[in-house]
Amino acid sequence: MTVDLVVRNCTVVTPAGRTPDAGVAVEDGTIVAVGRSDRLPEADRVLDGEGNVLVPGIVDCHIHNREPGLEYKEDWESATRAAAAGGVTTVVGMPNTDPVIDRPEHLELKFERGEASAHVDFQSYAVVTSENLDLISEIDEAGALGYKVFLGSTVGDVPPPSDGEILEAMEKIRETGKRLGFHEENGEIIDHYTEQFQSEGKNEPIDHSHSRPVVAEREAVERMVTFAEETGAKIHMFHVSSGSAAEAVARGKDRGVDVTAETTPHYLWFTEEVMREKGNVARVQPPIRDAEEQDRLWRVGIDDGAIDCIATDHAPHTPEEKKVDDPFGNTWDAISGFVGLETEVPAMLTFVDRGRFTMEEWVRRHSTNPARVWGMYPQKGSLQVGTDADFTVVDPDLEWTVDSADLHSKNCVTPFEDESFRGKAVATVVRGKVVARDGDVLGESGYGTRVDVDNE
Ligand code: DOR
Ligand code: ZN
Repeated sequence: MTVDLVVRNCTVVTPAGRTPDAGVAVEDGTIVAVGRSDRLPEADRVLDGEGNVLVPGIVDCHIHNREPGLEYKEDWESATRAAAAGGVTTVVGMPNTDPVIDRPEHLELKFERGEASAHVDFQSYAVVTSENLDLISEIDEAGALGYKVFLGSTVGDVPPPSDGEILEAMEKIRETGKRLGFHEENGEIIDHYTEQFQSEGKNEPIDHSHSRPVVAEREAVERMVTFAEETGAKIHMFHVSSGSAAEAVARGKDRGVDVTAETTPHYLWFTEEVMREKGNVARVQPPIRDAEEQDRLWRVGIDDGAIDCIATDHAPHTPEEKKVDDPFGNTWDAISGFVGLETEVPAMLTFVDRGRFTMEEWVRRHSTNPARVWGMYPQKGSLQVGTDADFTVVDPDLEWTVDSADLHSKNCVTPFEDESFRGKAVATVVRGKVVARDGDVLGESGYGTRVDVDNE
């Protein structure tokens, strides 16, 4: 038998363990064999892994691709170009676009745009507000991967529903079998301190961080865990930034609540000192925390397992919006968020190199778990025979320094500028097609397709 593609001469790593001198065989976009290089079938195309590491394709369940409506920042094409270059094979877009993704027609528009231009496979969340509780089942039928509620004000100013409406939304979403994720910051707390700091003239980048204290995040997790305990809904905490919030997630899991959580490379990499070093470039919501909170995020979130997933919160803005010309200027004039798709795999590989993660634990949190949490497993997030041939080949020894001029997004402002990593994706394969090699995007725009999820 001759198959379409064989990748050989890799160490294959999954959460279950590692196999040296191994590879994967692909036919019609599907995995047909995984195993020792010398046992793989003949192929029309052979990719020599050169002793690198092959893992199931990286799944980033939190990106702001900005399309429809905010294409001046980013669009499906540019976001998924960055994903391909960075070693990411599936992305899930956030709903704070223009229009917001709050009804079936908007979701369909988002999917259509993705089908027309994406380089890697994709999905989308829909937002739940006071206005669309009665549309939840229609949005489900239109194929949303899951739902999101913004509890506190952030980019896009999507107003939070009331607590009563959130309870009702949980009941309705439970019926769909899908999961509801949160931007978990208590809006009343952050609004209070934002107004107070502004009136007191506290305008430094670090003041922005302190205006959104850890208690706002912890309280939001605890309240949503309580609501989920009552309703039986499946919930998710996006971008957990602090040890305190990770502890609240752990307590929810202990109580038997189906609560999952993610953190991002920037909360694990930087402490709030970055606000004094890089200013508003590193401004993000929730903010980057102090060393003590970060240490507990590592211990409770990563070592003890409260955090299920790694995602980026890739959130491109123009250099003007980020105020890069004056990074220590009035923080209230700057916007929150920055790109992450091309630094997430290298940051995680650097943590592996430093012994903070095993390779297996990295793969579990950056591929398998995100696919499981959002109902895409094993089609995504596995190397099982019969599933999509999505994989990422990484060189764990490649040392390099970030130059944002080399990144692929439309706007590439990032606090990772000038940071050094050990490790990088060298090949990105989506359904058997090599979409990027050594950082060059090879695939065609429009190859990526929406991941179909069970609509039972
Ligand atoms: O920093 C952020 N940027 N936090 C968010 O919640 C939204 C995001 C964006 O859309 O730019
Ligand atoms: Zn986000």
